[in-house]
Amino acid sequence: MADSHFLASDEDGRDAARHNAAAWDRLAREAAPLARPATDAEFRDPLKQLDPLGWLGGDVRGQRILCLAAGGGRQSALYAAAGAQVTVVDVSGEMLALDRAVARERGLSVRAIQASMDALPMLAADEFDAVVHPVSTCYVPDVQRVFREVARVLRPGGVYVSQHKSPVSLQTTLAPGPHGYALVQPYYQRGPLPPVGPHGGRLREPGTREYLHRWEELIGGICRAGFIVEDFVEPVHAKQDAAVGSHGHRGQFVAPYVRIKARRRPRQAAP
Ligand SMILES: C[S@@+](CC[C@H](N)C(=O)[O-])C[C@H]1O[C@@H](n2cnc3c(N)ncnc32)[C@H](O)[C@@H]1O
Repeated sequence: MADSHFLASDEDGRDAARHNAAAWDRLAREAAPLARPATDAEFRDPLKQLDPLGWLGGDVRGQRILCLAAGGGRQSALYAAAGAQVTVVDVSGEMLALDRAVARERGLSVRAIQASMDALPMLAADEFDAVVHPVSTCYVPDVQRVFREVARVLRPGGVYVSQHKSPVSLQTTLAPGPHGYALVQPYYQRGPLPPVGPHGGRLREPGTREYLHRWEELIGGICRAGFIVEDFVEPVHAKQDAAVGSHGHRGQFVAPYVRIKARRRPRQAAP
């Protein structure tokens, strides 16, 4: 991918973007769980799949929606099927190829742009009515850059729905030891997390470079970028009676993800 795509990012950001583009290209070729297009069943009620809490108001027809770091042929296609004007941005060319293929097959219109989420100079100010952002801020070293870019491209009053890996989940072992799951990574983490190798699974995607962002960086960062946080949920991944060490078992101890609803504040008038 050309470096011109990373104009506003710093060297750490560019390096992480290059690394994660290659990792997600590979995951897309392997049809990994988060690199699979929407299914026929999901197209029956597309908005319900993506916005079960109704944070986008229950009807997105005609809305200009940015699906940020959301390649893979699922989110873009379902929002377009629900009637939105969709732009999907992703750093991985192979993930975007899935978006283009699904749009072609289903006769949907989707604009696909290869770029890193922390540098979006190709998008205009106030260009979108909503930004939806699946779990992916873990792939950038400086999350504040991302929130600043989202605030710039979202119109005042627009909704920003983002999902994130919870910091405590990134601190915690994936498998239990003799005393259960252990907190092994420092909260005040500098640089990327140790790689997980081929066994990361759905909580730590193998081959990617990930960063832990503290709550003050996530919630505080969204507020400081010019948003008001309106809601916050921790989707439940706990399963009673799940086998020890399974996803549902670990979910009894640690909520892996959070979902945040924020609204763009009106811009300050010049004094
Ligand atoms: C969890 S997947 C999200 C979409 C997923 N297909 C879904 O159905 O929800 C994370 C995405 O983030 C993308 N990504 C990683 N680093 C990125 C970056 N710096 N800028 C933009 N996208 C990035 C990956 O290529 C991947 O497509």
